[in-house]
Amino acid sequence: MESRHLGGDGHDPNLMVFLSDIHQHDNTVRWKNGPTQANVVLPQLVKEILTLRPLPAHAVVFGDFSASCGWIEDFRLAAAALKPLSDAGITLALGMGNHDNRQSFMQVFPDYKKRCLVPGRIVSNVSTPNADLILLDTLKSRDGEDWAEPTNKGSHVEGTIDATQRTWLRETLASATRPTFVGAHHDAREVGIVKEIVTTPTVFGYIFGHEHVWDESFLHYGYSDSRTVQTATLPSGGFWGDIGYALFKTFEDRAELTVRQTDFYFNRRWQDKPRPKNWTERVKMHDGRKVTFWYDKPANFY
Ligand SMILES: [Fe+2]
Repeated sequence: MESRHLGGDGHDPNLMVFLSDIHQHDNTVRWKNGPTQANVVLPQLVKEILTLRPLPAHAVVFGDFSASCGWIEDFRLAAAALKPLSDAGITLALGMGNHDNRQSFMQVFPDYKKRCLVPGRIVSNVSTPNADLILLDTLKSRDGEDWAEPTNKGSHVEGTIDATQRTWLRETLASATRPTFVGAHHDAREVGIVKEIVTTPTVFGYIFGHEHVWDESFLHYGYSDSRTVQTATLPSGGFWGDIGYALFKTFEDRAELTVRQTDFYFNRRWQDKPRPKNWTERVKMHDGRKVTFWYDKPANFY
């Protein structure tokens, strides 16, 4: 936690903004017919975030910086779009998605290496006065080339947690004494960490992206004595699907995640067509929805 967020400077140390699937694409360099809608929308979202008072202390990006293959030019665009947040004193916490590339990421965000907690992986922790957020790295690279240059093939769509990261997660959760949230690009079910999430008494929520769809659900491990853990799936920061960001505020007894949905669209050329009524309805349905993560997971099941 940086001291500049401890009060008096307009940042709420318990407030984070969550972005995911920002999918920036430099089509002047590669994939020249590729989509650039997100390049327009993300700066608009950032501009809106900067009007918040107080400002969040942290901005967390849950992966998919790049539109497709993790090219460095895409990361440069993402860095430029996010820079107004860090210029405003908001600390960036960044995680990998399936469209990303670790080498490109680290070339554009070299200082982030200091924050990485697991060798070979981009895993970090964000602390507020009331809770911790662990941000995992679920990127599954092609042929095990975890730090290779990007190629046109990109990474696997599905995610993974390797043995080293899994061991680190288990050890970290075993010693966690504060309310803890776990976040990643992929669903916990897909990467096989449901047991770790559900059976740790201090883990009260799991938050992820990847789907481009705002969703509220829960995890359980088995059907007999399982606890449940609240989950939320984040909108996209401009590519397709539910469009927007979410604000995460931690309290002494709970955390609240409130979605700000600004739009919904699907496919690249929708602007020329009549707008489907369901798209507008979907924005109205989601905008302002709040999920509460109570810190009251009973300790008697496991
Ligand atoms: Fe995505």
